[in-house]
Amino acid sequence: MSTLTSKAFGPNFHWGVSIAAAQNEGAYLEDGKSLSTWDAFARRKGKIKSGHTPHIATDFYHRYKDDLLLTKALGFTAFRFSISWARLLPDGTGRVNKQGVEFYHNLIDECLKLGLVPFVTIYHWDLPYVLEKQGGWTSTMMPKWFNRYVKACAENFGDKVKNWIIINEPLSFTALGYMLGKHAPGKKGLDNFLPAIHHAAMAQAEGGRIIRELVKGAYIGTSFSCSQIVPHSQKEEDMQAANRMDILMNRLFLEPTLGMGYPKEESFPFLRKLEIYNKAWRYTDALQFKFDFIGLQNYFPLTIKYNRLIPIINASEVKATTRQVPHTDLGWEMNAEAFYTIVKKIGLYGGIKDLIITENGACFKDKVENGMVHDERRIDYFQNHLKAMLKAKKEGINIKGYFAWTLTDNFEWNEGYNARFGLIHVDFKTQLRTIKNSGHWWREFLT
Ligand code: BGC
Repeated sequence: MSTLTSKAFGPNFHWGVSIAAAQNEGAYLEDGKSLSTWDAFARRKGKIKSGHTPHIATDFYHRYKDDLLLTKALGFTAFRFSISWARLLPDGTGRVNKQGVEFYHNLIDECLKLGLVPFVTIYHWDLPYVLEKQGGWTSTMMPKWFNRYVKACAENFGDKVKNWIIINEPLSFTALGYMLGKHAPGKKGLDNFLPAIHHAAMAQAEGGRIIRELVKGAYIGTSFSCSQIVPHSQKEEDMQAANRMDILMNRLFLEPTLGMGYPKEESFPFLRKLEIYNKAWRYTDALQFKFDFIGLQNYFPLTIKYNRLIPIINASEVKATTRQVPHTDLGWEMNAEAFYTIVKKIGLYGGIKDLIITENGACFKDKVENGMVHDERRIDYFQNHLKAMLKAKKEGINIKGYFAWTLTDNFEWNEGYNARFGLIHVDFKTQLRTIKNSGHWWREFLT
């Protein structure tokens, strides 16, 4: 066992797990909830592996008490979950669903009772389908709809919840859902991507302002996926390709939030299109909000080479599997040094107050054998990443917490239930939970 201890990170450090409504709750049409884009997307053939749906997921809606007890038993002191917009406001805007409010109150109360500090994500990718039918994130109405939803969250839960994350990874859901068609709602092309980016960036900043106004003593953040981008070679074309990817992955949403407007780079025409399409120069102030913390989420670094066949970015990934470097069972490179590098890079941006690692974790094909799950590779992953984080922290990066992704195996978006990230194994036929060795490792690390 490693000599690394949680004490090394100092007192008042938030140690938590993160989950998300669409990946865990299930109960997809229970107690007044309406369809989300993911419920609807799952009905389309071939969109989600093995024809899986999020309809039951980990049944967290009914099992949250047990899952919170498990979180506590593993030694965590914070719990990050998201609110399902379609459960709180089944019509997207307008009337509040009382049963939805009651569920989240029960969940929050249970967290507080167990001494788990709730961190609430307002939007983790599950838009009410009724709003998607009216254009979803491509609609100019979207910021208005989002404001209504944020207000409903603040008014109903602001007395008990102080830690808020406005949006989870805006790049992921806009790129995968509105450009590449791989995630819900399955839209493609620049005409969808450009407005979706802008509306998400606007909603994020305005969401921050609404929580600031309505929730006394709120600690407000928003979460970005960030990855170190490594050029495949020192050739100019590969270096340029890596730079374009870095802009998309690491700067596109962060810089407007910090008041810098969208990144500007003559050699990347996409950025000009983004400006023109959205008349974005008018909005620099509206896109800005002084977040108390930035949530940094990291899973892997990317090695990038020039590829003229890929539209817009003219770049593609050289996969970890081809380069034969250590990788998870999803083919994602495992490289803690790269985590250190990106934490330092983001942490050193001017204007960021605190940094919290709001997601980090690894996917393996875990199996239960004689009541145990031997996921030693996941333990290594966490140990190495925690050491890297400690190094960055000791060098002055203001890191206030770390949330492992994720508590239990769950609905992994278009991978369905095939990709297991949990510290706790779930048998999706019986919903039986088995703590993996990584879960036991966390308990020893934290207690
Ligand atoms: C998302 C999670 C997801 C995880 C692993 C993150 O980008 O926020 O919802 O399950 O990555 O893919």
